[in-house]
Amino acid sequence: MTFPIANRRIALIGGAGFIGHHLALKLKELGADVHVIDSLQVNNLYAFGRAQGDIVNRDLYIDITSERLDLLRNARVPLHLQDAREYHALTSVLKDIKPEVVVQLAAVAHAGKSNKDPYSTFDHSLRTLENALDYSRGNVEHFIFFSSSMVYGNFMDDSVSEETSCEPLGIYGALKFAGEKMVIAYNQVFGLPYTIIRPSALYGERCVSRRVGQIFIENAIQGSDVVVHGDGSDRLDFTYIGDLVDGIVKTVERKEARNQIFNMTYGSARSISEMAQIIETHFPDVTVQYKEKDALMPERGTLNVDKAKKLIGYEPKWPLEKGYVRYIEWYKQKFGRASKQN
Ligand SMILES: NC(=O)c1ccc[n+]([C@@H]2O[C@H](COP(=O)([O-])OP(=O)(O)OC[C@H]3O[C@@H](n4cnc5c(N)ncnc54)[C@H](O)[C@@H]3O)[C@@H](O)[C@H]2O)c1
Repeated sequence: MTFPIANRRIALIGGAGFIGHHLALKLKELGADVHVIDSLQVNNLYAFGRAQGDIVNRDLYIDITSERLDLLRNARVPLHLQDAREYHALTSVLKDIKPEVVVQLAAVAHAGKSNKDPYSTFDHSLRTLENALDYSRGNVEHFIFFSSSMVYGNFMDDSVSEETSCEPLGIYGALKFAGEKMVIAYNQVFGLPYTIIRPSALYGERCVSRRVGQIFIENAIQGSDVVVHGDGSDRLDFTYIGDLVDGIVKTVERKEARNQIFNMTYGSARSISEMAQIIETHFPDVTVQYKEKDALMPERGTLNVDKAKKLIGYEPKWPLEKGYVRYIEWYKQKFGRASKQN
């Protein structure tokens, strides 16, 4: 059984972020009645605009987050400027939209920042989730929650499946695991159908989260050294945004996605050195340096995606050689345009 995307009312909470705006544009293209709810206050336009002191590449991130809003506006995706921590105000926005599907993306989406500021991470991640769940019970057909590969903690094997036990390390993973349990509890108590998605190491156009792949490209373009933390052998399941978005579309469409947890990644880990080598190919003058690794970053690897392939026909198509190269090309064009304007 499928639920056609066309005309489906879908609310994306935290939908002006990196994943959310890509997802909104795709759903809109497929004919959904998609609404974005976002405060733009966390890792987004207002946060960069009001930040005090030296923020690396601040003007660039203001430009990129503004571009997201332009794209949403041009695609006629309504943006509801709302802080999802405010229970009554969020409820009122959702009552107006009357979504059939709610996708909960709002969070402090960065492990390093979460460890530095647990209070605000709790607030933006779990408080917003609780508010979204409370509206959704009885009102919504399907609730989709963005968890993370960080719930697994240190990978004991090369690869983890959804059956692997979760031993999160640090604030971010612990809150994501708590979030998963809240979503499941709302299903147990109120029968709210859900899907929990565990992505990992995403990259792609218009990301401003400063994960490794983005920092490598920005440094290389700006003529700075590319710094690898650790000896480069750490392996991550790098995932191009297009693969995740296609997987979420299938999650919305397919009945088999209901009440399931899915790993949703490329499905094959690659080393940081391999990523750095792609950078060296595209920026022959770059210098790669090696520095100490962050002690709280777990050992990771591949997230097995067989379950999503089997149940909902998930089909990742973007290895690093395609996806990362496309991302590099996008950045080169962006910097090329900016230098012509200056
Ligand atoms: N990007 C990744 O590699 C990755 C990996 C695993 C999991 N995730 C999860 O996916 C989700 C989306 O990630 P992303 O990369 O798009 O992050 P992002 O930081 O780009 O987007 C998060 C959005 O949520 C909004 N937001 C935060 N608090 C809010 C609040 N109180 N009210 C309204 N809006 C609020 C922010 O303004 C931002 O636009 C997050 O839950 C993240 O933890 C991301």
